[in-house]
Amino acid sequence: MTPEQFLEFARVLPEPLLLVSGEGLLLATNQPVADILGLRRQEVRGRMLFEFVTESTNDVVKYLQACSSSRAMVIGSLTLRKNDGQTLIYRSQGAVIQPWSPESSALILLRLEKRTLASSNFVLLNQKIDQLAKEVHRRKEAEEALKKANQELEIRVEERTTALQETLNELQLTQTQLVQAEKMSSLGQMIAGIAHEINNPVSFIYGNLHHAYEYTQDLLKLVQIYQQLCPITPPEIQDEIEEIDLDFLIQDITKLFQSMKVGTERIQEIVKSLRNFSRLDEAELKQVNIHEGIDNTLMILEHRLQARHDKYPEIKVIKKYGQLPNVTCYAGQLNQVFMNIIVNAIDALEASANNSQWSVVNPQTTENQKLTKNNPQIQIKTELIDEKWIAVSIADNGLGINEQVRSKLFDPFFTTKAVGKGTGLGLSISYQIIVEKHKGELRCFSTPGKGAEFVIKIPVSLV
Ligand SMILES: Nc1ncnc2c1ncn2[C@@H]1O[C@H](COP(=O)(O)OP(=O)(O)OP(=O)(O)O)[C@@H](O)[C@H]1O
Ligand SMILES: [Mg+2]
Repeated sequence: MTPEQFLEFARVLPEPLLLVSGEGLLLATNQPVADILGLRRQEVRGRMLFEFVTESTNDVVKYLQACSSSRAMVIGSLTLRKNDGQTLIYRSQGAVIQPWSPESSALILLRLEKRTLASSNFVLLNQKIDQLAKEVHRRKEAEEALKKANQELEIRVEERTTALQETLNELQLTQTQLVQAEKMSSLGQMIAGIAHEINNPVSFIYGNLHHAYEYTQDLLKLVQIYQQLCPITPPEIQDEIEEIDLDFLIQDITKLFQSMKVGTERIQEIVKSLRNFSRLDEAELKQVNIHEGIDNTLMILEHRLQARHDKYPEIKVIKKYGQLPNVTCYAGQLNQVFMNIIVNAIDALEASANNSQWSVVNPQTTENQKLTKNNPQIQIKTELIDEKWIAVSIADNGLGINEQVRSKLFDPFFTTKAVGKGTGLGLSISYQIIVEKHKGELRCFSTPGKGAEFVIKIPVSLV
């Protein structure tokens, strides 16, 4: 649209209309505009819009830019300064009729409308756009902040959950320890009590055995003297001599006393082992012989190693003891570990007996050994690794442990045994005793179907 075309079209319209360039140059106005300003139309043409308004040049240019870059009508407010100095506020509707191009500047048509309500603010769309953009930015920031807060919250919830899980684990562990400590302490007390009860009568028998032997020898000597001094015996006595088979009796009684002596000595040894095992007095660190601890444990479990009612064959214990120094440890607790692991091995062998499957302990070294159904074995090996560490390995040729079970082996209350048979505490408490109490290692190696091996490593001295 040229200024001329504009004038042609604007002449007939009663409302004030202006044709301005994007820079604010007044290209043409109609009569109503000239009337408002109190000037002639020719006086207005060619001048700049901001010469006739009170708003700042910057604001006017921004408004015109907003008009020229928008496809829609842009509403603004212009305060016109009349020739006599009076000001009037107009609402302006700006529309671009020719967009800006490198060759020519933008052409904007402004339509003025008298405002009844005065507003001192120059409302510019791009200001609004600015505000909106700022609002959008602010909202985006708020959203980001919310997202971040959310993530932080999630992390905190996760941390809290982990902390709670840890507390739960700790509590379970404490509970485990308490249960096991209670179990072992009652077992220890019971064993100590039994040992004490047996010890008294056995000492009594052992102490008198010697005298009983001496007395019998004296009596036999007396019989011999009788036989020498009175070779002709009355028939009643002769009958009795034959009846009791005196010659055999004389011969046998010494053997009899000998085996009674061996028997009582064995009971005394057992009592000593029981006492050693319970080691109630040894809550503190003490230097002990590890082999003694293992042997005592095996002795207590002797009844489970023997063959039982055709169902379970005898479990052979193969000991491969190395040269070990005395080890400073919590002996009673270490015995509990041997007990837990050996009992597990026996359980595994019994379970295998039910399944009638046997493998060979240490398959690498005995690969060619013929597998028989009746060779349940537990192999206990000890060795001095270096001057600071010892290792005890307890291996069985039972069913072995599959990967799924192995990953939970040391978890408190994990058991594959029937309800009432296993509490699932044995290994978790053993782990505690070895790893935490003795700063050692407890590891399990197993090939399912070929048995399991538990290796304990502990320092020779804990101090
Ligand atoms: N030598 C082994 N051979 C095969 N499986 C074993 C062996 N030792 C342990 N396990 C498996 O590990 C599980 C956990 O053993 P753990 O000693 O902790 O508990 P438990 O023997 O089931 O019960 P508890 O010892 O408290 O009476 C056992 O239930 C068993 O499945
Ligand atoms: Mg067990």
